[in-house]
Amino acid sequence: MLFSSISSNTWLLSIGLLVCITICGCNASVDPNFRVRAVALGGWLVTEGWIKPSLFDGIPNKDFLDGTQFQLKSVTTGKYLSAEFGGGSIVVANRTTPSSWETFTVWRLNEKAFQLRVFQKQFLGLDLNGKGKALVAVANSPGVLETFEIVKKPGNSKRVRIKATNGMFLQAKTEELVTADYPAGNTTTGWGDDDPSVFVFRIAGKLLGEYQVTNGYGPLRAPQVMREHWKTFIVESDFKFISENGLNTVRVPVGWWIASDPSPPKPFVGGSLAALDNAFMWANKYGVKVIIDLHAAPGSQNGWEHSGTRDGSLEWGKTDENIKQTVNVIEFLASRYAKHPSLYAVELINEPLSPGVSVDTLKKFYKAGYDAVRRHTDKAFVIFSNRLGPMKPRELFPVISGLKGSVIDVHYYHLFTDDFNKMTVQQNIDYIYSNNTEELNRVTTSNGPLIFVGEWVAEWKVKDATKENYQRYAKAQLDVFGRATFGWSYWTLRNVNKHWNLEWMIKNGYIKL
Ligand SMILES: *[C@@H]1O[C@H](CO)[C@@H](O)[C@H](O)[C@H]1NC(C)=O
Ligand SMILES: *[C@@H]1O[C@H](CO)[C@@H](O)[C@H](O)[C@H]1NC(C)=O
Ligand SMILES: *[C@@H]1O[C@H](CO)[C@@H](O)[C@H](O)[C@H]1NC(C)=O
Repeated sequence: MLFSSISSNTWLLSIGLLVCITICGCNASVDPNFRVRAVALGGWLVTEGWIKPSLFDGIPNKDFLDGTQFQLKSVTTGKYLSAEFGGGSIVVANRTTPSSWETFTVWRLNEKAFQLRVFQKQFLGLDLNGKGKALVAVANSPGVLETFEIVKKPGNSKRVRIKATNGMFLQAKTEELVTADYPAGNTTTGWGDDDPSVFVFRIAGKLLGEYQVTNGYGPLRAPQVMREHWKTFIVESDFKFISENGLNTVRVPVGWWIASDPSPPKPFVGGSLAALDNAFMWANKYGVKVIIDLHAAPGSQNGWEHSGTRDGSLEWGKTDENIKQTVNVIEFLASRYAKHPSLYAVELINEPLSPGVSVDTLKKFYKAGYDAVRRHTDKAFVIFSNRLGPMKPRELFPVISGLKGSVIDVHYYHLFTDDFNKMTVQQNIDYIYSNNTEELNRVTTSNGPLIFVGEWVAEWKVKDATKENYQRYAKAQLDVFGRATFGWSYWTLRNVNKHWNLEWMIKNGYIKL
């Protein structure tokens, strides 16, 4: 009896231990009640010009950065230059309204030399097969014939001439014939309306990301400028501030080039890895956890400036090679920081955009990326960002369910669609309590992945809102996003736009944690 009772107690104890081990295994966190209250270190290791515009101040000829989109109206035809059919054919100057076919996107070689990409992704160039001078848009990769200088009228930012590598300016001879044969030395017309080589220039879009800033400064200056930025934009005392103001985690956006530090592919420059090392060191010192977030994947997963794109194209995931390269970046980061006491989670990719990124491609990458993290750590959570754009909020569940320590990242902004244009303060707040709550409920399941509101901000479309309005708005988001099973992260710690600057919001009493 005695023996058997001891033995059954031992048995119960073992079951208890087993259950406990299983539970701990399922849930990488030791404390199931812990919730991430994070702030992103946005604009630090992945440049975003709107966060810190002054970073671009010293770039020569900075109107023409990679990805700048512009349109050209011929002063003689009074019509827009256009790649017929959007590319793959001739170039004309007969379009009355500028749209996609009339928009040219810059690839910058240096402050004087540019290549110009059209809608269908070919490059403007001289046609050697035809008359030798006509302008076409047929080359898929740019060379000498596709390289131009853009010459501004002195003292006038609106008028330009475009010089080809044959030494001649482009001219709109007629609405249907654009050629590169206007003598460069001819200044007799003085940039007037009778000069077929003069075009009125209009910028239609700009990108201010890591590619733009590094390629803009060029190989000699970019390393100095970026290292200075990394050293000064985020410093040790920021971690002290974070730890003393109710936050417990930082989400650190990084770019894929960090994995080939110290000599990443051009134009990116080395040194961001040492900055990330510092972040881990400071995090440890102040008891802050770290989420590494692959914000910029090779080829760009969304075409936005914060993805490291050159010209707004979305090329990520188009080849197996590219996916493998991305998995290698994750593996590099996981292996480097797996044993670090502050590593809390690895986010495999930020904001992949639908339909450019298909759900099947994403699932394939997520499976491989998860395995790459798990080869180095059982403890760190793995965060899977939901696609933006058309998608189903639970579309990742099939690949994620059953993966230990998995988290879905959703981003809730009340800014980027027209739905919010006319909302009042109260409507915004109601939207959070009803619509965001409902969206959160839709992805939250009792034994599925945890949910992370990985980006939100107390900014909206409301004009002239008072401080008290902002306080209520922020509090509503904290209430609702505080229920997310993994936690939330504010975008971002520091920003010239004060409501996007959590440090400013806390110091000025707009947000209290
Ligand atoms: C512009 O010129 C091209 C080439 O002649 C022609 O095919 C096209 O229809 C013209 N477009 C307009 C809007 O006139
Ligand atoms: C310079 O431009 C004017 C006006 O278009 C033209 O009359 C003249 O022939 C041009 N000179 C040369 C050298 O091409
Ligand atoms: C918010 O939810 C309400 C009620 O379900 C719905 O009628 C409304 O369209 C939603 N608003 C937006 C902007 O999606």
